[in-house]
Amino acid sequence: MHRSHNCGELRIENQGQSVTLAGWVQRSRDLGGMTFLDIRDRYGITQVVFNMEVNADLCESARKLGREFVVKITGKICERSSKNPKMATGDIEIEASELEILNASKTPPFTIEDDTDGGDELRMKYRYLDLRRNPVQQSLMLRHKLAIATRSYLDGQGFLEIETPYLIKSTPEGARDFVVPSRMNPGEFYALPQSPQTFKQLLMVSGYDRYFQIVRCFRDEDLRADRQPEFTQIDCEMAFVEQEDILNTFEGLTKNLFTEVLGVSLGSFPRMEYATAMEKYGSDKPDIRFGMEINNISSYAQGKGFKVFDDAQAILAINVEDGAEMSRKKIDALTNWVKRPQIGAKGLVYVKYQEEGILKSSVDKFYESADLEEWCKSAGAKVGDMLLVLSGDLSKTQKQIGELRLHMANELGLRDPKTFAPLWVVDFPLLEWDEDEQRYFAMHHPFTSPKPEDRDKLKSDVGSVRANAYDLVINGVEIGGGSIRIHDKMLQEQVFDLLGFTPEEAQEQFGFLMNAFEYGAPPHGGIAFGFDRLCSLFGGSESIRDYIAFPKNNSGRDVMIDAPAGVDDAQLKELSLQLNEEE
Ligand code: AMO
Repeated sequence: MHRSHNCGELRIENQGQSVTLAGWVQRSRDLGGMTFLDIRDRYGITQVVFNMEVNADLCESARKLGREFVVKITGKICERSSKNPKMATGDIEIEASELEILNASKTPPFTIEDDTDGGDELRMKYRYLDLRRNPVQQSLMLRHKLAIATRSYLDGQGFLEIETPYLIKSTPEGARDFVVPSRMNPGEFYALPQSPQTFKQLLMVSGYDRYFQIVRCFRDEDLRADRQPEFTQIDCEMAFVEQEDILNTFEGLTKNLFTEVLGVSLGSFPRMEYATAMEKYGSDKPDIRFGMEINNISSYAQGKGFKVFDDAQAILAINVEDGAEMSRKKIDALTNWVKRPQIGAKGLVYVKYQEEGILKSSVDKFYESADLEEWCKSAGAKVGDMLLVLSGDLSKTQKQIGELRLHMANELGLRDPKTFAPLWVVDFPLLEWDEDEQRYFAMHHPFTSPKPEDRDKLKSDVGSVRANAYDLVINGVEIGGGSIRIHDKMLQEQVFDLLGFTPEEAQEQFGFLMNAFEYGAPPHGGIAFGFDRLCSLFGGSESIRDYIAFPKNNSGRDVMIDAPAGVDDAQLKELSLQLNEEE
């Protein structure tokens, strides 16, 4: 063994012991007669002192050590004369008697400190150095704890962890597939799973009635702070259950993770219908840590000659408490914010409720103070508040004002990462109409069951059919989603038909599943949690990258190993793929 202890465990009680530590040189300070080294490993930092008077050669060697050299040090534990209460090992230091350099290090391209001087790109390129930093290590430790707690809880509930294949055929979860050419089957490709959806359903047919897997999923989609091309799910499925059973089981898992890992106890999770979430929050993943709900003021604001409002399908308002003092400049900035292409509003109307009967707005030309006061009252505003109003097509305006609501809450500091507000969003529509493609898409995925009471409408009014689908939302983040599945071949065929598959296409792509349904498929349903998102929520960060050991950047590249990269022509040929053009 290179060490007797780690760099984080020695205390004053160990005084007098002779120990050997191994680690990286964090910092060295040369004070003439004495040289101090901080050596670090993943458990902490310990101070080592070399004394010129005691051993001049050793002290000379210590002076030559650079940052990140790997060293092995033997010495005696002594009480420090000036203690450091900020360090767990701050009461002691090691008086070195031996020093061995296990390996030298080039000067690292950025400092390995909590607040590093390295920018994003540089840290990604040298991710193995970034991973030495304490905050990154804490994030990975949090991830580990969550994984262990998940396994332990689900094991306790009788779930079996079963692995499903990575080389499969496309599963339509809405994103593009990553494909892998097959050498042995020229011209044919595997797809990497977007999720183990069809396999977990097959496991239910096979009788493994409680399955889970902490599993990598692959989606070729545009990346954002909460999306990676390969990410991890806690993927689960249960047989002989109804929606209620699933919600209860996974509310149980979530609460357990919060108590075990964060020491936070959550009350029971409210449930909200999708339609209500859209109406009140303009989002299917509402952040309910704060109010500022959306109010439809169309009936008050139309018919007074303001053409923009008169022509709009909906006029929606949020109330900014104590906002009446907001400066012109700030309101202009908000107006520009809503007009950005990402939001896409045409303009922003404000109404300042300055005093009873005295209101100031950007539409004073068209409305009397009494009209404006009516809007304010209907939106629950009081004197001193300000309404922000957007108008247009109902569903677009809902989303825009939903974004504005979040933006205002960020500005006002209403989104405390240490407060947790979970909820279930339920009763999603089964299908979603796509204007560009002029056809329906499955809102969750094609295996989701319509609500039994809406099944009649599959033929008459398919757009209004609701699904037995649910999302777990915490603090405005979609942490998980799932559904009760179709387990009846005929119904599955009918849904494929609605989604525009011919019977042949459906058979070709999903024959294996529909055939399985003919051999005694039990009623079943499940859910998948985005594990990386869960970690970042627990860690209080918006980016999931910090919780992934080797993440991709926003262009889907691993800049450390430089992937993706070309392959040589021989490899392409072997895979029966086209050679480079110049060949
Ligand atoms: P869904 O597509 O909703 O459902 O995915 C489940 C959860 O996975 C997370 N997630 C992601 N996390 C990081 N990067 C991504 N690119 C990414 N995409 C999704 C989200 C999401 O809620 N098979 C179904 C589940 C089921 O029906 O049981 C599925 O995959 O947190």
